[in-house]
Amino acid sequence: MLSIISPSEMTAFTRRARQAGKRVGFVPTMGALHEGHLSLVRAARARCDVVVVSIFVNPKQFGPSEDFAKYPRTLESDSALLAQEKCDYIFCPSVEDMYPPGNTTAVIVEGISDRLDGRSRPGHFYGVTTVVAKLFNIVQPDVAFFGQKDAAQAAIIRKMVHDLNFPVEIVVCPIVREPDGLAMSSRNMYLTPEARKRAIVLSRALLRVQSLFEQGERDSARLVAAGEEVIAREPGVRLDYFEVVNPDMLENVSDASGALVAVAAHVGSTRLIDNILLGRK
Ligand code: PAJ
Repeated sequence: MLSIISPSEMTAFTRRARQAGKRVGFVPTMGALHEGHLSLVRAARARCDVVVVSIFVNPKQFGPSEDFAKYPRTLESDSALLAQEKCDYIFCPSVEDMYPPGNTTAVIVEGISDRLDGRSRPGHFYGVTTVVAKLFNIVQPDVAFFGQKDAAQAAIIRKMVHDLNFPVEIVVCPIVREPDGLAMSSRNMYLTPEARKRAIVLSRALLRVQSLFEQGERDSARLVAAGEEVIAREPGVRLDYFEVVNPDMLENVSDASGALVAVAAHVGSTRLIDNILLGRK
């Protein structure tokens, strides 16, 4: 496994691989890797000849009062995990490599970027699409792997790839959870033992919605009310949003068939997100 810092070196390596007829798979991450990230690396390993993982804590997707400075940076243990997964290249550029002085271009997917987390975290998705577009141009993968855990992000990236004709196939992999249902996240490290116990309320609220849906409830407003009630009963948890939306455009829908149910909540001082997809019938 090779660790690469410079964007031009990265481009040269993957260009050579593609010229040799190899299929390049790419997993963009911010590091602090866990089984959720590794599931994407395994999916890439299974479908591609060359696997590239980027580790870059992207300052442009953090708001001024968010956790950019304290975001966990664990490059050494991340590298060991990626070596075990037979990753070929880790691309870990510096902020200066990615955003040299004078770099002022942004990629904005209008409308959809201001929904769900985009509403709570203004500008967040502009930072995400800008860095992912840059990473796609640097790595030039055939296939890129994202997690359903960040459902809004996956929808926005799909739209960016479609709107800007990126020649990249997007694969979205299922959410990996802890045994008690909590969706794995690098930010789970911030939780105190007490907050960790409370944090399963997000998946509990989603399961409540799913069970009502399976009993025949299709009305989004009633499903949202039921989910919000589960969250409200948990002390120390403050709801950010609970929404039933169309999974492609993230617009609210009144009939929940085939919808994405997405929740974000502050558990103590840590903001967590989770979601489920409901069936079509
Ligand atoms: P990060 O939060 O490190 O996540 C990297 C990828 O891992 C994302 O596609 C995310 O959805 C996926 N992932 C995280 N937790 C997961 C879980 N429990 N199950 C399955 N997949 C999971 O998302 C980002 O980084 C950044 O926004 C990035 C795309 C790298 C751009 O900076």
